[in-house]
Amino acid sequence: MIVDRQGRRFRNLRVSLTAACNYACTYCVPDGKRLVAAQDELSAESLARGVAYLIEAAGIERLRITGGEPLVSPKLDAFLHSVSTLGLQDISLTSNGQLLARKLPLLLDCGIRRLNVSLDTLNAEAFRAIARGGDLSTVLKGLEEARAAGLKIKVNMVPLRDQNLDQVLPLLDYCLERGFELRFIELMRMGHLARDGGAFSRQFVGLEELLEVIGRRHAYVQADAPVDATALRYEVPGQGYFGVIANESVPFCRTCSRLRLSSTGWLHGCLSSSNRHYVGDLFDKPRHQALPALQRLLVRALADKQELAFSGGVTVMKIIGG
Ligand code: 5AD
Repeated sequence: MIVDRQGRRFRNLRVSLTAACNYACTYCVPDGKRLVAAQDELSAESLARGVAYLIEAAGIERLRITGGEPLVSPKLDAFLHSVSTLGLQDISLTSNGQLLARKLPLLLDCGIRRLNVSLDTLNAEAFRAIARGGDLSTVLKGLEEARAAGLKIKVNMVPLRDQNLDQVLPLLDYCLERGFELRFIELMRMGHLARDGGAFSRQFVGLEELLEVIGRRHAYVQADAPVDATALRYEVPGQGYFGVIANESVPFCRTCSRLRLSSTGWLHGCLSSSNRHYVGDLFDKPRHQALPALQRLLVRALADKQELAFSGGVTVMKIIGG
């Protein structure tokens, strides 16, 4: 097992199945830049073998499938079927929900029980302005179907001062009514926001302000969360839970157990570091050759983690999926 001086190790792997996405969210894709087709991506088979090797080499216990938007990828079916046989404690998926209704049978078939769905607003016009792709009613329909199928659902919302701050309470009520756990994600300095501090500061809404807005409507108490959780959790007694991923206000680097693999075969030990380690070629090698090489790179990836706080990075969620 590879452990660092702070006692951190990799437990949670996030695999970006593709960098392609059917949205172009304002905080992820800079204005004027449209999406380019994903290039040089690993096959479903290589990625799934990579997951198997990483389980052995790093002690991975849980897998989250991300993107881009994972549900747009033709690799989803083969990848899911392969990784569902690897004995992981948990496989979950982060999606924008646009294709959720259509892909639900496949997800259920492969044992997916938990989903995170990104939804920044319930206002159709604001939705178009933020996501710049897709359609709000399709996401809502997908969410209803996933709920009816018994999936455990978290909804991710990135509060932005100019675009959806008025949606904090409507989204919270929407989620509480349906048993979804809403997770507010403080805006992170990634990609163009790392370069443009002005744009970041104008849009950023922090934990304190969020709790103040929520407190005007609901009484809430702090709730338990796992030690390596990134979200602070709160309970609205009798109604449900919500969380805040407070990257800026309450950094959680000290307990971070995440490892990320991009669709093009790069390992990222930390979202905030520009270091990455190419492992795509190792996944096509036999186990006895791949594992020692992988272990050497995992030591370096673990050393990329920040001591305390996320400080910004060139990578964007579109590549690495959160
Ligand atoms: N800051 C905070 N959250 C972000 N996401 C994408 N980019 C950023 C950013 N710069 C969110 C998406 C998705 C999750 C995986 O990460 O909205 O819900």
